[in-house]
Amino acid sequence: MKSNLKKLFITTCMILSSNIVFAEISEVIPVNNALYAEECGACHFAYQPGLMPARSWQKIMKNLANHFDDNAELDTEDQRLLTDYLIYNSAESSIYRHSMNVDSSIAWNQIPLRVSKIPYIRFQHDDFIADMLKYNPKIKSRSYCNDCHTKAEDGIYADGIDIPGYGKWDMHRCMKF
Ligand code: HEC
Ligand code: HEC
Repeated sequence: MKSNLKKLFITTCMILSSNIVFAEISEVIPVNNALYAEECGACHFAYQPGLMPARSWQKIMKNLANHFDDNAELDTEDQRLLTDYLIYNSAESSIYRHSMNVDSSIAWNQIPLRVSKIPYIRFQHDDFIADMLKYNPKIKSRSYCNDCHTKAEDGIYADGIDIPGYGKWDMHRCMKF
């Protein structure tokens, strides 16, 4: 009886987390600016503007020559265009789920420079991600969202999680029962 119940839980969980039930709705507005996708997607995943507040983007864009130990400098015109794009689409200007959560999780006097360090984003991962990153040569760091979130470019993070070296997250989540 007990094991039948467990089987039922696992089956229900798998059906619920499959695409058959949930429509693919973006949880943050996908990048829709070709210049941004090209310039800011050259070294890592092009983070959606809605994942950080305007004040964070402004600070990052002012210091591109010294960008996380790398040089991401742009010419003045591109820098202006991309700063405008980021500010116009920042977390506090969007009603998408992750943007609203990102914005409300940051204290007013904080200016985070990493999406991965924003309280709401940290909270989604902290208890297990450190272990999955440790000794895992297939993931560069937690900054490389699309290593695990295969639909990240479409603004989808809850679905399509496939962790290199570990496999599909749906299976892990269901096996917890
Ligand atoms: C020359 C390579 C390069 C380019 C071009 C580049 N970056 Fe980065 N960026 C990096 C590196 C390296 C890191 C640090 C990654 C790490 O810690 O593993 C980083 C980190 C970041 C982070 C923090 C990631 C986190 O941990 O949440 C943000 C935000 C970011 N970049 C935004 C941008 C934006 C916006 C642009 C375009 C204006 C840009 N980057 C262009 C190299 C680049
Ligand atoms: C090592 C793999 C890995 C990396 C790298 C990673 N994530 Fe995740 N993320 C996960 C897993 C696994 C979950 C599901 C957690 C759960 O179900 O409790 C998750 C959950 C999330 C969620 C919550 C989705 C929901 O259910 O609504 C968001 C948002 C998210 N991640 C954003 C990001 C962003 C942004 C980055 C990059 C800065 C990132 N993640 C990097 C593995 C990863």
